[in-house]
Amino acid sequence: MEQPVKIGLIGFGTVGCGVVAVLNDNKDIISKKAGCVIEIAKIADPDLERKRPVQVDKKLLTKNAEDIIADPSIQIVVEAMGGTDPALKYILSAIEAGKHVVTSNKEVIAKHLSQITAAAKNKGVKVLFEASVGGAIPIIAALRRSFSANKISEIYGIVNGTTNYILSKMTNEKREFEDVLKEAREKGFAEANPKNDIEGYDASYKAAILAAVAYGADVKWEDIRFEGIASISLEDIKYAGEIGYVIKLLAIAKNEGGVMDIRVHPTLISANHPLAAVNDEYNAIFVKGNALGSSMFYGEGAGARPTASSIIADIIEICDTGAKAYYPALNKIKIKSLDEGSTRYYIRLKAKDTPGVLASISGIFGQKNVSIREVLQKETVGDIATVVIIIHAVNERDFRQAMELISKLPHVTKVCNTIRVGME
Ligand code: HSE
Repeated sequence: MEQPVKIGLIGFGTVGCGVVAVLNDNKDIISKKAGCVIEIAKIADPDLERKRPVQVDKKLLTKNAEDIIADPSIQIVVEAMGGTDPALKYILSAIEAGKHVVTSNKEVIAKHLSQITAAAKNKGVKVLFEASVGGAIPIIAALRRSFSANKISEIYGIVNGTTNYILSKMTNEKREFEDVLKEAREKGFAEANPKNDIEGYDASYKAAILAAVAYGADVKWEDIRFEGIASISLEDIKYAGEIGYVIKLLAIAKNEGGVMDIRVHPTLISANHPLAAVNDEYNAIFVKGNALGSSMFYGEGAGARPTASSIIADIIEICDTGAKAYYPALNKIKIKSLDEGSTRYYIRLKAKDTPGVLASISGIFGQKNVSIREVLQKETVGDIATVVIIIHAVNERDFRQAMELISKLPHVTKVCNTIRVGME
């Protein structure tokens, strides 16, 4: 057995505590796999007073992450603090000091992977980030190694545990959004600021990382179009269910002849698709490639121990002196604009229950080349009916223009929601 490898842990929150717990619980197996004892030498966090679910020797604790960077005995820095500032600074200083880095920080990787990779390559150190997407699911390893003989064409991911938890509890238990969100926070998989989950930021970071690893796409995060789930109501979930669909927040990354279609939005997917069966905080990533066909990865995508599982696997890979450093080859790639896309849509609107209303709606759709697949009249309250319309694939710009005109029709009282359908 080699000398112990010392690690410095920056961030002693949910994920940091998970790393300490799993390193303790699985000490023997981890040392055997790594070929050395992995020893936590220092833990940095600005708040050392908070009660935590793990006990550590107080001598290991510091409020100052620079103490870890400056410690020459520390070979691997685990960054588990999240956000970009000061996480990026610490990652770059650790690399500069010749240390390897393992991070679960999706935001910093999504926004700064090419800078971090260049710095690591320059110093000959390894930077690994398996835990940044899908918690314990080994999707980065699969895309890097197992699928490396493929041209990957499509990736569809349920990559945010909090929103999947909320949508599946709303679907299966008919519970309201706020009530379920509270529970997700108590369970420790919602971000400190749940806006990151609910509004789609977290999933957009993961989409950027998947695109980088699968396609070598140096995606400018700001160019990714993303929407969250705040607009999804129990009504949408119910009507979607009645016509054979389930609503999921999907991160989509497709390579269309060198142009990236990358986006995050709620999507109606067929109740028969394997992604539809992914419930609660579970994540799943569905990949298509020209040799592999289709493959789906499923597992715990958030929380202390699943995230620690991937972080420690990366530490073990670094300890394997035979493992070559991984530097994703990144190239600037054009991202398809919103207007270029063509999508099917679900529309829920309220209109006066009177002759000619549907005719005027279909007239506008006809003018804008929108072909209707299905129209369902749902509950009527007084003289106002809820109408659900499913349309065939349509250019996004034409769709927006049609909806703008429909919302102004005299008998249409409200366009309640429009949600994309399917995975085209
Ligand atoms: N807040 C994230 C989620 C944690 O809910 O999936 C994992 O990145």
